[in-house]
Amino acid sequence: MNETNNFMTMFQNAMMRDFKSMMDDNAAPYKKLMAYYQCAIYEIETKFRVLNEEFSLAHDRNPIENIKTRLKSMDSIAEKMQRKGIAISAENIERELNDVAGVRVICTFIEDIYHLADCLLAQDDITLIERKDYIENPKPSGYRSLHLIVEVPIYLENEKRPMRVEVQLRTISMNFWASLEHQLRYKKSIPENEREAIASELRACADENAELDRRMQVVRKQIESFQQEDDNSSELMKLFGIKPKANLL
Ligand code: GTP
Ligand code: MG
Repeated sequence: MNETNNFMTMFQNAMMRDFKSMMDDNAAPYKKLMAYYQCAIYEIETKFRVLNEEFSLAHDRNPIENIKTRLKSMDSIAEKMQRKGIAISAENIERELNDVAGVRVICTFIEDIYHLADCLLAQDDITLIERKDYIENPKPSGYRSLHLIVEVPIYLENEKRPMRVEVQLRTISMNFWASLEHQLRYKKSIPENEREAIASELRACADENAELDRRMQVVRKQIESFQQEDDNSSELMKLFGIKPKANLL
């Protein structure tokens, strides 16, 4: 067992040396690659901002609450490549990892998630690489989100370069849940029995969240159906030239 541990430590150290020497010898290609991923993030983020703007004009509400973006850290890239047993080079990172560039879109309602995903995927410069629907099929932990791996071109001085981006679409409540569960995952000091109790409580919270998301969407539809009547009546009022009463508030 000790020998295995020693071997693992030696192996990990060798991988880290591999990574450090790649960084020393090859900082330029690595920096360039990271800059390309950052540009791909800009492209995807802008596409969602445009969709949000257009939707808010048409429907008088914002489907997107918030957009968060992140570039995977050097340490996380090294750790993941090491876990996959792949030598670290700029080419291998680009070929093997789908989540160096990440865009998280926090939506108000579940329907907004699917609508935004469909709109993004319908754009002719977007290629879908992978789609994982953890809303239809939640993870055993209770995790829910819609994940898309997409390829988007970035336009450089002399070339058009397709880059992969991981897009996670979630509701506010899914995001709230995932942030808390993430803390459990990374708190190593929690004893095993406590961890299981917390995980079980989180699974129960995930079920309640799913129910809450569903009910909130039903309420929104009810409210919107009245909104429709309001709009119709104002059309009628306009038609007959009737001025609406002044709002006294
Ligand atoms: P990774 O190697 O972690 O990237 O997994 P994967 O390539 O199989 O992708 P997957 O779609 O399962 O998950 C990718 C990302 O989704 C993770 O990096 C997290 O941000 C998020 N995620 C997936 N499962 C969970 C979960 O159970 N809890 C939380 N909090 N986040 C999760
Ligand atoms: Mg990941």
